[in-house]
Formats: sequence, structure tokens, C-alpha cells
Amino acid sequence: MTSKTFKKNILCIGAGYVGGPTMTVIANKCPNYKVTVVDISQERIDAWNSDRLPIFEPGLKERVLSARGKNLFFSTEIDRCIDEADIIFVSVNTPTKMFGEGAGKAVDLQFIEQTARRIKENSKSNKIVVEKSTLPVRAAEALATILHSGNNSVKFEILSNPEFMAEGTGIRDMESPDRILIGSKDTPSGVAARDVLLDIYLHWVPKDRLITTNLWSSELSKLVANAFLAQRISSINTIASLCEVTEADVTEVSRAIGMDSRIGSKFLNAGPGFGGSCFRKDILNLVYLCEYYQLNDVAAFWEQVVSVNDNQMERYVRRILQAMFNTLVGKKLAVFGFAFKPDTGDTRDAPAIYICKRLLEEKADLKITDPYALDNARKDLHDAEEGVEFIEDPYQAVEGAHGIALITEWSLYKDLDYQKIFDKMEKPAFIFDGRNHLDHQALYEIGFNVYPVGKPALSHL
Ligand code: NAD
Ligand code: UDX
Repeated sequence: MTSKTFKKNILCIGAGYVGGPTMTVIANKCPNYKVTVVDISQERIDAWNSDRLPIFEPGLKERVLSARGKNLFFSTEIDRCIDEADIIFVSVNTPTKMFGEGAGKAVDLQFIEQTARRIKENSKSNKIVVEKSTLPVRAAEALATILHSGNNSVKFEILSNPEFMAEGTGIRDMESPDRILIGSKDTPSGVAARDVLLDIYLHWVPKDRLITTNLWSSELSKLVANAFLAQRISSINTIASLCEVTEADVTEVSRAIGMDSRIGSKFLNAGPGFGGSCFRKDILNLVYLCEYYQLNDVAAFWEQVVSVNDNQMERYVRRILQAMFNTLVGKKLAVFGFAFKPDTGDTRDAPAIYICKRLLEEKADLKITDPYALDNARKDLHDAEEGVEFIEDPYQAVEGAHGIALITEWSLYKDLDYQKIFDKMEKPAFIFDGRNHLDHQALYEIGFNVYPVGKPALSHL
């Protein structure tokens, strides 16, 4: 198929964790559309065009290979691609602003603004611009103002289409989404643009899963969805603390409350705290917005979700310290898992970063193991001058260790030979199962002192 025979040209600006996989799924599901993904990073684009993709996501590579060069293209020729596009998805990063007004909470919108200006400068025909990045509510207003400034006669219609996929299950989430949300203006041109986007999703998403709203509801729903999910994790983590001192068991409590269909069973797993590039950033963005509109009690409520999470990571470290006789100086700890969750190599805002830094501060020697995240772990801990090694093989990581800190629940950790591991370790041997992932009774019977989350310890001491 030549480019002339494609129904429409789709462009995505930003070839990251969202842009790459979402566009791959669209290209796979819509062979009659040409999909191009561009980025300012030559390195990222080269990786998308190679056999070693820049991100690991189950099912992604096969799908990239089946569409790349046919109707899926990765490029750094941003200006030319903007000019040729009918629909432009904006999927650039929107990190927390770390300077000036709103530092530490507001979204840093510089990449969005740069993108908007570039779209304006290179557009000679009308275009639909889709917010795929997560943005503060009413961001579309600013985007429209930038795009229509000056004396350009080109018309841009802005849609909000936030992405709800989670890493590790990204392909499944996109191919079989709970819902697709599209926000648009309720004007004839807004509704027409919305229908163009609906047409794309209708290639594979059932009609009853496509929701349309006004622009502001759509933008806000994305922040609220992440805030509600994170709030459940912080809620169960507070209950885990109470379980540890009362001999209640947080897994039993989660099950008992989760069977109430009004509560539901998902996102009730206690752990060392949530991580990932979205939850903290999006809640802080919500907090900032509430403060901006002087809704201070609302802001304080949501900010607490983040404070509880910070305390949870620290509580995990304290539990290790207290169990190991209040000193970690010179003790070897094998860290099982560094990614912020399994099935991804992503370590952005991973609890492991905070936890490992604190353990190093206590002068422990760390041997970190993870099947996909060691490259990122090295970068995250590059400041640590000594006391940390990165080892692929978990059996090698536990050699002479006093304890194991399991931070990410990779399924491979369930299947290890823990008798063999116990034999390689110093005694008394400790396991701090931050995810309640392992068989605690079996470990205890081998001889380990087992410290789960939200349950009493099983200790021989
Ligand atoms: P990312 O950092 O992985 O990717 C963003 C990409 O945009 C980078 O490759 C960067 O080089 C590129 N970029 C920045 N400025 C650019 C510009 N001016 N022109 C061209 N390229 C530019 O980020 P991500 O994880 O893909 O997230 C993107 C957006 O999606 C964020 O708003 C995020 O909140 C949201 N989101 C992320 C997830 C997730 O799981 N990661 C899920 C839902 C929504
Ligand atoms: C999240 C949202 O789920 C997704 O909809 C949005 O688009 C992006 O942000 P993601 O961060 O990729 O996705 O993964 P998620 O599965 O939500 O996990 C986030 C963190 O919460 C991880 O660190 C995970 O370990 C933790 N978590 C999750 C818990 O501690 N307990 C749980 O019960 C669930």
C-alpha cells in the first residue's frame, strides 16, 4: 500500500511508554490508516526501528514487527510528519514541575507547549489534535489558544483521549479496554472530530465501551481514575500497619471486604507502596489544581494518599532494620525486584529506589536482581558510591546474604528453590516479602524468619 491509498495519516508526537504501544495497537487494528510515531530523541526512534525496542512490554515486539514498515513508522522528521498528518496524538511527557511556581506538584507543561507551537508552525491544512498525555483539567483551552494564535488560517479541533493502560498489561489493556474516553467540544466541528476518532477505535472496541464527554470531564476523569486507584492502595496499606500489630491478616481482610461488590477486589494488595510514573505525579497535579481553586480541604484529602505512600516505603525499611537487630552495617541484603511492578523494565518512581537508598544509608551491602530492570536500576542508583551490585542470577545474589528484600512480585521468584537459597545464606536468614508473594509457611519450615506485609512475622528467634 502506498501512502496515497491510506484512509488517513495518523501522527503521534512522543514515542514513549504510551505513544509507542498505543500507536502499535492502532496500526495493527487499522491497516487502512498510516501511523507514524515521532520523537525528538534519535536514540529512542533508532531503538523503535531496531530489534531491541526501547521498552519491554509483553506482546509488544510481535505487534511492532508485524506492522513496522507497512503502516507503522518511527521517525525524527517531526516537521514533515506534522504537515502530512490528519490526526495528531500528543503523547509527550508531562512530569511534575521541579522549579518555580507549583514546584513539586504542578505539571511541567513545557513539552506540551513546545509541541503545540511546532504543530502550529508546520501545519498547512486543518487537523485534529488529540491530547493523549495526562493533563490538568482545562489544558485544551491553552492548547487551542496557542494553536490558533497569529494569523494562520488553519483550524485545529482539540480532543481529549486519555490513556488508561497500565504497564506490564499495556497491550491487553489497549486491545480489550474497559472503556475508551473521548472528550470534545459540543459544536458541529467538535462532534465531527470526535466521530473521526471514534471511527478508529470502532475497528476493534465494542460501541458500548466508547464513552464521549465534554473536554473538561475527560481531562479530569484521567486524574481522578489514577487518584482513586492509588487511594485504594494507600487505604489498604494503612490497614496493613494495623494488622501487623493486632495479628489480623491483611490478605484475609482484603478478601473479606473485596467480596462486597460495592467495594470490589482489585487494587487491594498491600505492599511497599505504589510506584510508577503516573500515580504520584497525577495525584499531586490534582492537589495543585484544588489548591489553585482554593479547595484546600479537598487538596489535603488527596495529598494524604501520597503521604501514606511515603510512610509505607519507610515502614518497610524500618521493619527490616528492627528485625535485623537494629543495625544493617555491613550486612548483605539481596533485593528481589527493582521494577515498579512486574512485567516491565520501568523503574520510574519505583519504591525500590527509595528503599535501596535508605538501606544504603544504613550501610547495608545490596545485591540487586531483576529480570528486566537492572539497566534502569544502575541509572537510578548511580550516586551510590559503594555497597551496591547488580546481579542477574538470583541464586548468585543471595550468596552469603543475611536477608532478602522482595520488592517486586516477579512470578519467577515464586519458583525459586528456597532450600538452596537458604543454604547459601548467613544465619539467621531473613525474608522481607514486601508483596506477600511467597509461601510464608514453607519458607518458615525451611528455617527462614519471614516478615510479610500486614501479617504477623513467622520467626524462629
Ligand atoms: P515517556 O517519557 O516514556 O515518553 C514521552 C516521549 O515524548 C519521550 O520519548 C520524549 O523524548 C518525547 N518528547 C518530549 N517532548 C517532545 C517534543 N517536543 N517533540 C517530540 N517528542 C517529545 O512518557 P510516557 O510514559 O509515554 O507518558 C506520556 C504521557 O502519557 C504522560 O502525560 C503520562 O502521564 C501519560 N500516561 C502514561 C502512562 C504510562 O503507563 N506510562 C499511562 C497513561 C498515561
Ligand atoms: C497506572 C494506572 O493503573 C493506569 O490506568 C494508568 O493509565 C497509568 O497508571 P501503572 O502505574 O502502569 O498504571 O501500573 P498499576 O498496575 O496501576 O500499578 C501502580 C503501582 O501500584 C505499582 O507499583 C503496583 O505495584 C502498585 N499496586 C497496585 C499495589 O501496591 N497494590 C495493588 O493492589 C495494585
